[in-house]
Amino acid sequence: MKQFKMLINAADRTAHIRPELYGHFSEHLGRCIYDGIYVGADSEIPNIRGIRKDIVEAFRQIHVPVLRWPGGCFADIYHWQNGIGAPSARKKTVNTYWGGVTETNRFGTHEFFDLCELVGCEPYLAGNLGTGSPRELSEWLTYITSDGDCDLAELRRKNGRNDPWMLKYVGFGNENWGCGGNMRPEYYADLYRQFQCFSMNAAGEKLFRVACGPCGGDYRWTEVLMQNLSPEHTDAISLHYYAVSNWEMKGSATVFSEDDYARSLQCAYQMETLLRRHTGIMDRYDPAGRIGLVVDEWGNWYEVEEGTNPGFLYQQNTMRDAVTAAMTLNLFNRYAGRVVMANLAQAVNVLQALILTDGAQILRTPTYHVFDLFQAHQGGETVYCFSQNETVFGEVPMLSSSASVKDGVLTVTLANCAPDAAAEICCDICNFSVRTVASRILAGDPHSHNTFAEPEAVRIAEGTAELLNGVLHLTLPPCSVAEVTLS
Ligand code: AHR
Repeated sequence: MKQFKMLINAADRTAHIRPELYGHFSEHLGRCIYDGIYVGADSEIPNIRGIRKDIVEAFRQIHVPVLRWPGGCFADIYHWQNGIGAPSARKKTVNTYWGGVTETNRFGTHEFFDLCELVGCEPYLAGNLGTGSPRELSEWLTYITSDGDCDLAELRRKNGRNDPWMLKYVGFGNENWGCGGNMRPEYYADLYRQFQCFSMNAAGEKLFRVACGPCGGDYRWTEVLMQNLSPEHTDAISLHYYAVSNWEMKGSATVFSEDDYARSLQCAYQMETLLRRHTGIMDRYDPAGRIGLVVDEWGNWYEVEEGTNPGFLYQQNTMRDAVTAAMTLNLFNRYAGRVVMANLAQAVNVLQALILTDGAQILRTPTYHVFDLFQAHQGGETVYCFSQNETVFGEVPMLSSSASVKDGVLTVTLANCAPDAAAEICCDICNFSVRTVASRILAGDPHSHNTFAEPEAVRIAEGTAELLNGVLHLTLPPCSVAEVTLS
């Protein structure tokens, strides 16, 4: 057992946590959309216009605030016109990025906006800058947002949607340094300036425009973008980072050694360096903080589960993933002054998924439960939260934490990253009068995970945090994540 002292000062508010920090990502990849979120109206699986009811319900329970779509790499080969109109007449294309499978375009603009409305989340479109044109993107936005007397709005009405949809978040391309066109940052910056110039919300609402930012530690990309883009035409730049130590041997999601566990945590903790260094560059060019950072792809990436299509990126999800997710979300809260949105990759059946499906069954992964434990931070104010610490596996702090205040409630989230030592915590709380304490905890062996035979093997339990003489006390078992609520 290791002992730690913590101090929270609820009067020292450092940043607003936009709900979008708890966002998600759904790509036309493997079984994320088809056979995941979307099963079709004729399916025996309970659905609303083809969208699985249980998934909508699960998303609503954790208040998914924003959903990115249609990619990923797929975004830069996606042509929106293929995904509207009578389903039987929709063009069949090939998903050249993910498994070479037929893309029926059955799930398109109308279905995506329907999903967002059912979930109650903001849509975040990834526009095609790689193989699309400014005209194509501009027309897509008009189709979605115009209430006027024009052919595109008329076409939308004819396709069954009378009112325009609300749309705020638009990304311009995806990974344009790689799958989105192998571009240099100078070239991308020019293309971005051109594309964004023709991209309007026809209802007159201001779009939140996200330029394609760097891959992990490519600081030059950020530097060039910040030199060439101004807050007048850019609201944010993105960052993609996957926690992988060796792309040739990514390892199994469920069968791993303590060394593998250590490497996963070390890789996930790299996010701290990335946030510090990229935001440092942004601070130099934009000290007023007008351009945000959107981490619109993050998570752990392992080898696919045995017997599944390698192009489908289907992996299991254990308590190791729960701990790295908690660590990452605590970092986002701490960097919320600049990080304005983040999207875990991906929502269903792909990479570090929230939900896995098998026919009519679904299961919530340990990562889903972390988003449940952290949801009270959405819309809160980050407050000063210090902890004594020690490191595990080199640089990784054993204890990860953050705290926020919202509507008179102080929420503290913690993760114990050590696989074999409990953490006993005493936390002084300043400038907050506590009447009640409640806590919830997710704990298990690092390998613990949910299966379709045992979908609740890992689940949230009530915690034992208590207030003694005004000091908060709690014990975190090895490899655990907790939420403490004080009001
Ligand atoms: O999330 C899977 C893929 O990873 C995305 O399509 C791409 O943007 C990234 O490389």
